[in-house]
Amino acid sequence: TQERTLILLKPDAVKRQLRGEIIRRIEQKGYTILALDQRTASHEELTAHYAEHEGKPFFPPMLEFMSSGPLVALVVAGDECIAGMRSLMGATQPTQAAPGTIRGDLGRAWDKPVIENLIHGSDSPESAAREIGIWFPSLAA
Ligand code: CMP
Repeated sequence: TQERTLILLKPDAVKRQLRGEIIRRIEQKGYTILALDQRTASHEELTAHYAEHEGKPFFPPMLEFMSSGPLVALVVAGDECIAGMRSLMGATQPTQAAPGTIRGDLGRAWDKPVIENLIHGSDSPESAAREIGIWFPSLAA
C-alpha cells in the first residue's frame, strides 16, 4: 500500500550535521521525499504535534529541546513507509535501538530530561495525516 508519513529530523540531528546521513538512509530504502523544509519550530506547531504528551513531565523540556534550533520536516512516501520508517529509525531509546538503525547507529546514550533521539516518524496512517496537516498544510489530504 502506498503511504505518506511525516518525518522530523530533530534539532540534535541538525546540530550534529547528520541530515545527509539520515536522508541517505531514507532514499536508499527507495522512499520518495515529497517535501522537505528546514525551520525553527514554533511552540504552536509543537504543541499541536505533541498534543498527546501535554501534561507529561517531559513535555516542557521537550518543547524547549524541539525549538532549540532548526529541525527538518519531511513528507516521505512509499510502499508501507509508515512501518518501514519506524523500522529504519529503531527503538525510541538510542540505548535500546538495534545496530543498523538510525538511532542505534547514530543516537547517543546521554542521560537527559528528554530523549534526544534524532528523528520522529508518524506511528499510524491517522497520525501521519494529522501531522502532515500540521507541518505541511498545503499537502493535507
Ligand atoms: P517522539 O517519538 O518524537 O515523540 C515523543 C517524544 O517524547 C519522543 O520522541 C522523545 O523525544 C520524548 N519522550 C518520550 N517518552 C519520554 C520519556 N519517558 N522521557 C523523556 N522524553 C520522552
